[in-house]
Amino acid sequence: MKEKTQKNLYTAFVGEAKAYFRLLAYAAKAREEDIAQIDLLFRAIAEAERVHATRSLNLVQELVVQDTDTNLEKSFQREKTVSENVYPDFIQDAEAEGETAAAIFFGHARDAESFHAKLYERAIMNVIKEKVESYHVCQVCGYVAERKAPAKCPVCGAPQEQFKSVEA
Ligand SMILES: [Fe+2]
Ligand SMILES: [Fe+2]
Repeated sequence: MKEKTQKNLYTAFVGEAKAYFRLLAYAAKAREEDIAQIDLLFRAIAEAERVHATRSLNLVQELVVQDTDTNLEKSFQREKTVSENVYPDFIQDAEAEGETAAAIFFGHARDAESFHAKLYERAIMNVIKEKVESYHVCQVCGYVAERKAPAKCPVCGAPQEQFKSVEA
């Protein structure tokens, strides 16, 4: 693909993906304000932006999506970078500015991402001994458990009910 178009498609993908989440937040706000019709409108357009995000991503597949070995390796590297460099810096800044909620969020994200890195690392090294039939994702911090949700999240302390399962 030609360079400018590829770059523009990638920009469109990022913009549409962000719009999806932003519009869902707008919908939630409309619900909070009891404006059901606008809640519905924002959710409908969010769904449309999700379609755009998927379509632009499909057109830049070659830029973003490689073979599974490469995708695993890149995902592992990204998790390592965010947990070892990006989030620690964010935590420091949030603490320096006294932004406690943000500091707690960054801390949870840093710890959860380092667990994600371990899951990728084990997948890359092929050391998953028994087949994993399900993963369980903490809806507070993003910690991912194999097979069974823990009684208490090791990263944020959330109870088992806060886990959402992803099944085979
Ligand atoms: Fe992650
Ligand atoms: Fe958690």
